[in-house]
Amino acid sequence: MEITEEEINEVIKVLKSKNLTLLAGNVVKNFEKEFAKYIGVKYAIGVNSGTAALHISIAALDIGPGDEVIVPPFTFVGTASSILHNNAIPIFADIDNKTYTIDPNSVKKKITSKTKAIIPVHLAGITADLDPLKEIAEENDLKIIEDACQAHGAKYKGKKVGSLGDLGTFSFYPSKNMTTGEGGIITTNNDEIAEQCRLLRHHGESSWYIYNRLGWNYRMTEIQGAIGKVQLRKLDDYVKIRNKNAQILTDAVNTIKGIYPPHVPTYCEPAFNYWIGRINPETIKLNKEQLMKKLPASKVLYPKPLYETKLFQKKIAYPKGCPWSCPFYGKEIDYNLIKLPVVEKVTKEIFALDIHPQISKEDLSQYVYFMKNLIN
Ligand SMILES: Cc1ncc(COP(=O)(O)O)c(C=O)c1O
Repeated sequence: MEITEEEINEVIKVLKSKNLTLLAGNVVKNFEKEFAKYIGVKYAIGVNSGTAALHISIAALDIGPGDEVIVPPFTFVGTASSILHNNAIPIFADIDNKTYTIDPNSVKKKITSKTKAIIPVHLAGITADLDPLKEIAEENDLKIIEDACQAHGAKYKGKKVGSLGDLGTFSFYPSKNMTTGEGGIITTNNDEIAEQCRLLRHHGESSWYIYNRLGWNYRMTEIQGAIGKVQLRKLDDYVKIRNKNAQILTDAVNTIKGIYPPHVPTYCEPAFNYWIGRINPETIKLNKEQLMKKLPASKVLYPKPLYETKLFQKKIAYPKGCPWSCPFYGKEIDYNLIKLPVVEKVTKEIFALDIHPQISKEDLSQYVYFMKNLIN
């Protein structure tokens, strides 16, 4: 993450204006217009995190008690917890063995009469395969919410992610391709959905003290908007450097036996948020813990599929067992019984390396040095 005088000056302007909330100023509104233009959609709605963007998106589609939403289990918890926060049920589909994004064939098998939406995640800046997912969605009357929290600037078949589903969601957490400190944004072309998102991020309030539906305070602040405006102008340059850094690691790893670089499908122009390496367990006989010790700079990328975490194994969400115990659901779900072979294998073999624009050539060389040492 890089914060320069430009961001600082814009923040100072906001502070001096004393208009710190979007209810008083125009900075977030302008940032929203610019972000919508960048993605190629009609509307963008600024919120205070990527998780809030997902929470609101699901609510805007009137998905709630008794409904199921299909997600990949190889993602940040917010992709799935935002479904629980709407009192709906996350259903996990397996991932593709090469891209690690949701596998449309597995999605097909998970559809029931209760399914309302699919949330594909564009993982680490590599896009999910959206066309087959859109086909499945059309056939089954489902909505698509793109989780693009790790993929600002990535393109699927020439179009920016966030413009292809019914809604797109982005995070501006500091590790993302661009930041506002904390923050998030929703993108959509649909007038009614945009209107509902605006209501939902602001207590369901349509005008002073007139409450039209249950909402939250998920508003983006003017300070966040000011940082976002500057960061957005730099995003394409940041993505170029990220992609270049990723290519350096990929080229190096292509000469190392037993490690695979990330796979970039032909439909995808990536915007690498981090670089995913994978070991061949036949060649490198290390368990995850040993692997992490030997790669000191690496991140443990999702050590388990989400359904293997306590939240799902013991179903700890709202009191009295909600949302799973909800009478509208009327089904029993036991995440202990879920077996998704690809994700269960991938989680054991994978690691992530930072390739953000401020990383030095020496750091990248160090990564390569450590990866070469994995074989010994
Ligand atoms: C795939 C994915 N979805 C959702 C989120 C949630 O974003 P935030 O941390 O801004 O709530 C993140 C951020 O880590 C993410 O990587």
